[in-house]
Amino acid sequence: MSLLKILEFPDPKLRQRASEVTVFDNTLKTTCEDMLETMYNAKGIGLAAIQVNILKRIIVIDLSENKNNPLIFINPEIIKFSDDTKQHGEGCLSVPGIYENVTRPNSFIGKFSDVDGDDHQLEADGLLSVCLQHEIDHLNGRVFVDHLSRLKQEKIIRKLQKEKRRSLAEA
Ligand code: NI
Repeated sequence: MSLLKILEFPDPKLRQRASEVTVFDNTLKTTCEDMLETMYNAKGIGLAAIQVNILKRIIVIDLSENKNNPLIFINPEIIKFSDDTKQHGEGCLSVPGIYENVTRPNSFIGKFSDVDGDDHQLEADGLLSVCLQHEIDHLNGRVFVDHLSRLKQEKIIRKLQKEKRRSLAEA
């Protein structure tokens, strides 16, 4: 297994649209393992392949307290959103140190494939719903800050640039 480098907003590579996984082989399994290791190492709860510069529709998530329940979603699709919405605080490994409230549909019905290529349906609510919607956004080139006002987005970009200058100065 190996740690992968996580791209950081506003890297334009995060704006690409990831393509469908069509081959379910050992390379895919290794990619998923590397993504999980990278996510655990960065203390995240979810990671989309595009964040590690792999343009495939792959998502890994672990919402368990003990980090022992890895979930893998290949080619996830939302079939139907609930009508009700909910606001939830979100962060992102590609937007380090930033946490903002985002309003999204409360739950949804969706489908995905597992690493062996078998298809599954799911009903996602609660944190899984928030997390999967956030990660599916990534697969479509969207970042959670896109849901915020332009003013807030500009503030976040300035803050991240400042942080970067500081860490370069300290290095
Ligand atoms: Ni994210």
